[in-house]
Parts: sequence; structure tokens; C-alpha cells
Amino acid sequence: MKVGIFDSGIGGLSVVKSLLKHKLFKEIIYYGDTARVPYGAKDKNTIIRYSLEALEFFKNFDIDMIIIACNTVSAFAIYELKQACDIPVIGVIKPGVLAVKNNIKNKQESILVIATKGTINSSRYENELKKEKYLNVTSLQTGLFVSLVEEGIFEGEILNSTLDYYFKDLKESKKIHTVILACTHFPLLEKEISKYFDNCKTIHSGNAIVEFIKEKYNYTNTFKNSKISFFATENPDNLKKVAKLWLGSLIND
Ligand code: DGL
Repeated sequence: MKVGIFDSGIGGLSVVKSLLKHKLFKEIIYYGDTARVPYGAKDKNTIIRYSLEALEFFKNFDIDMIIIACNTVSAFAIYELKQACDIPVIGVIKPGVLAVKNNIKNKQESILVIATKGTINSSRYENELKKEKYLNVTSLQTGLFVSLVEEGIFEGEILNSTLDYYFKDLKESKKIHTVILACTHFPLLEKEISKYFDNCKTIHSGNAIVEFIKEKYNYTNTFKNSKISFFATENPDNLKKVAKLWLGSLIND
């Protein structure tokens, strides 16, 4: 089984981490559109166009499945991607919601969804959570975090000011129990975000993607070793550097 993973940049590594941990695929082809990241504030048609271009890239490989490891693309282009290819295409929003269902049993709990402008404006999480009767939900676009992650800023002064910029007023007005990291870049800041809200719970789709694939496709394969190749539309060295940092011993050189 060979899987293609697509994100606008390096955020999809948070999904790759779970796939590698569970040895779900024999081969992983990662494609990050680092030349054009961030996608989060771009309009729907642009996101669809870029995503279809990524699909063209994957045609160079004989892949069995594509995971759209990007919430923004999952919110705006999943339908077009599914229409354009004859292998399964999996987005990250449904796995994200599955992770919420598995982890939050008290439906009154106060939940904060953070994501790019595009994902928040699409209301996909809000609607899915409403359907599941989670009613105490606040949504906030926190797009600057994407740029910080792409720059390799995972802690320190700039991150702290950005946390204050987005969250200070909210924190003063409301107790947040769980933050949904509805952008695949955000798990790279998970510790700092959780700390900001007094060590609150955090949830993201990387946590549930394995379970989701197993359930939906009745997929039971595991492989002793997974081979992974990284491709980026610009600066592949940065992608590799963050991959080494983030995935550590799960990958070889
Ligand atoms: N990692 C992406 C997401 O999950 C997109 C970030 C961006 O390109 O703005 O939404």
C-alpha cells in the first residue's frame, strides 16, 4: 500500500506521525506546496486549482490512496479532488470530528476550534460539532500560527505574543476545556497552546486518522518498515529539517 499525503506546507507531518507510528502504509509520498503556503486565506477557487495540481503530481507514483493532510483543502476542495480521481481521497475534518467524539464525552464542555480563516469561514467544524450536539463551541481563525510553524518557530517570544494576540481576551472571559487544532500545522505548537489555556486538552485529526482509515476501509494492514519520500514545491531542505525534528526516530535519513 502506497499513500500520497498532501498539505500546503509542512503541517501534514502531524498526520504522517500517526501513520508512521502505526506502520499503516508500506510507502508514503509526502507533497508540501511550500512555494505557495499559506492556503488559509486564499479563495476557494485558488485552493481547488492548487489541489488539482497536487493531484497531477501524485500521478507520477502508483499510489493507492490520498490523504489530504490539510483542513483548508479538506474544507474547500475535497469534492473536486474525489471527482478527479479514482482512488480513495481522505480529508482530515471527519477524522478530526471522530477524535472529538472519542475524547469529549461531556457535551457541555467548552471547546475552542482554531484553524485558518478558510476553515473557520467554511463552518465545517462548527456544523459537524453541532450535529454531534456539542453546543459550547467557540471558533477562532489563528492563521499566523501557520507562518510561525513554516518558519520553524515552535516556542519563544514571537509565539507568546501571537498567543496573546489571539487568545488573551478569550482566556479572560471564558474557561476553555479543550482546543481543537483544526489546522494540521498546529500540532507542532500543541504544547504551547495547551499551556496557554492552563494545560487544557488538545485534539487533532492526526490522532484519529488511523482509526478513521481502519474503520472506513476495513483496513487492517501493518508493515514492519515504512518508506517515506518528501517533496516540496520550494525549499525541500526546510521540509526535511522539520521532518527530522518532528518525526525523529520514526524516519531514517
Ligand atoms: N495545514 C493547513 C490546514 O490544515 C493549511 C495551512 C495554510 O496553508 O494556511 O489548514
